[in-house]
Amino acid sequence: GRGACLAMGPRLGDWGRLLLTLAAALTLPTRAPGSLGAQIIGGHEVTPHSRPYMASVSFRGQHHCGGFLLRSRWVVSAAHCFSHRDPREALVVLGAHTLRPQEPTRQVFGIAAVTRHPDYQSATHANDICLLRLNGSAVLGPAVGLLHLPRSGARPPAAGARCRVAGWGFVSDLKRPPPGLMEAEVRVLGLDVCNSSWRGQLSPHMLCTRSGDRRRRGFCSADSGGPLVCRGRAHGLISFSGLWCGDPKTPDVYTQVSAFVAWIWGVVRGGRPT
Ligand SMILES: *[C@@H]1O[C@H](CO)[C@@H](O)[C@H](O)[C@H]1NC(C)=O
Ligand SMILES: *[C@@H]1O[C@H](CO)[C@@H](O)[C@H](O)[C@H]1NC(C)=O
Repeated sequence: GRGACLAMGPRLGDWGRLLLTLAAALTLPTRAPGSLGAQIIGGHEVTPHSRPYMASVSFRGQHHCGGFLLRSRWVVSAAHCFSHRDPREALVVLGAHTLRPQEPTRQVFGIAAVTRHPDYQSATHANDICLLRLNGSAVLGPAVGLLHLPRSGARPPAAGARCRVAGWGFVSDLKRPPPGLMEAEVRVLGLDVCNSSWRGQLSPHMLCTRSGDRRRRGFCSADSGGPLVCRGRAHGLISFSGLWCGDPKTPDVYTQVSAFVAWIWGVVRGGRPT
């Protein structure tokens, strides 16, 4: 199995600050990191382009967050990915597997507008969702495709449901990306149980997962914004985790997408930032 993964590094972004804040709040051990890894934990590399909805959001050529393609011009991601960042410096890469620039299936866009949820709160990560309007239309095909939202009014998946989470989170101690898109199968954890583990810090409209066995499995820092896929639909968006990635004491927390379906369609149909 993999060792513990500490999502801190010399380049502490919001994510690092959030983790530090939570670490302070929870008085987690502050011993020196054994590894500065930041990737899907306990997962495997997927068959190339088998998750054609996956988007990579990069700043200055460096992968920063995940997301998924909802419509040919619209990507759903996490609001915290754009905290203190200029969207004009971001690129959205579709059709990738390795994220290397020479991949022939790759389609790269700029961002015409970012719409963050109006009730997003950076301190608690409540309502951590945003919509990216691309500056062009993706050409859909075998390597680039759409992911469905939950049906309008759908409930989040029940505790114990099996879902999959994917991302390109870096192995950041060496600033090296994983060999390709990584994915892990996880189980939904009841929000009340999860809230207890997080000492009551969770807000409504969140969703948690656990590994479902004794192995550490889940997401890590640069995976943020990527989808949690349950029964073929995006039910979660990677939001935050504990100091030690994959640690069952601080279960992985996602934005509960089913609570935002009406907001998402309102923005997409309105086509304008709020
Ligand atoms: C979209 O943005 C990208 C990156 O900034 C740029 O290279 C491209 O020319 C833009 N496309 C259009 C249609 O403006
Ligand atoms: C988590 O627990 C706290 C403290 O009991 C409570 O105030 C909060 O509403 C709970 N959150 C959820 C999502 O149940």
